[in-house]
Amino acid sequence: MKKDFINFYELSKEELLEILELAEKLKKGETSVNTLKGKSIGLIFMKPSTRTRLSFEVGVYQMGGQPVYITGSSTQLSRGEDIKDTGRVMARYLDGLVIRTYSHQEVEELAKYFDKPVINALTDYLHPCQILADLQTVKERKGKIENIKVTFVGDGNNVANTWLIAGGLVGFDVSVATPAGYEPSGKAVYQALKLAQKTGAKIEITNNPAEAVKGADVIYTDVWVSMGQEGEKEKKKDFEGFTVDRDLLKHAPSDVLVMHCLPAHKGEEISEEVFEQYADVIFDEAENRLHAQKALMHYLFK
Ligand code: CP
Ligand code: NVA
Repeated sequence: MKKDFINFYELSKEELLEILELAEKLKKGETSVNTLKGKSIGLIFMKPSTRTRLSFEVGVYQMGGQPVYITGSSTQLSRGEDIKDTGRVMARYLDGLVIRTYSHQEVEELAKYFDKPVINALTDYLHPCQILADLQTVKERKGKIENIKVTFVGDGNNVANTWLIAGGLVGFDVSVATPAGYEPSGKAVYQALKLAQKTGAKIEITNNPAEAVKGADVIYTDVWVSMGQEGEKEKKKDFEGFTVDRDLLKHAPSDVLVMHCLPAHKGEEISEEVFEQYADVIFDEAENRLHAQKALMHYLFK
């Protein structure tokens, strides 16, 4: 049966740990993978991207495959051809699909009609490839991803939703602090809690960032206005007090890691000073997109 990576829990905890181990070896140059030799992988991007596009294009090439970059506007999708037919047509040429789009349901539907691996490169609901690379980064820096606390401060968006589900799956505590009205998706909280029944992860949703960062191993943030929400810029005024800055860090342990998926809006969700203080970690996260996704593709296509 084909394997996809659309939600985070398509991987078991064991598979996830195996992928992270391979990612680590790939990064150190201890091994290489040419699992995609002779394979063509379509990369559909209906939203902009710097890191995800580049890391997939380069990663597919390094694994011996051909990346085929497809913009939303350049396909018949933009003229109303449906997902069902698009998936069936693409499966006649391509060996795998990476897709970044708005609707999560559309990606799930595509995976029903495209009978080879489909990877979610970000939807309005989730960003699983990002958190995969972030877990590699946390493991490098903290030596573990279990028994830790990750605090997400900001908008309860796709990245926050994915952290919740990842915490539930792996068994680490996740606290998400947002202004009232910007909490993460109820579905993500439900999925996280369901997974946490098995792993014992604590899942907390709060409107108090100073309390949430207490005891945190990682403080994570992301933009207040995500792609597709550009018309909602007004919402920024509701985020006062939710900037990851020096004042907020006073409430966290001194060895806390500050992470950001990028792109960053400095002066909004993170102060320039804190961003620069943790720039090494933040750019490692960006680099690890390449290694983690190669390990993921090896697992999906081997
Ligand atoms: N973090 C991330 O996914 O970046 P891009 O939008 O540049 O791909
Ligand atoms: N939440 C952001 C993540 C960007 C990588 C967005 O969806 O725009």
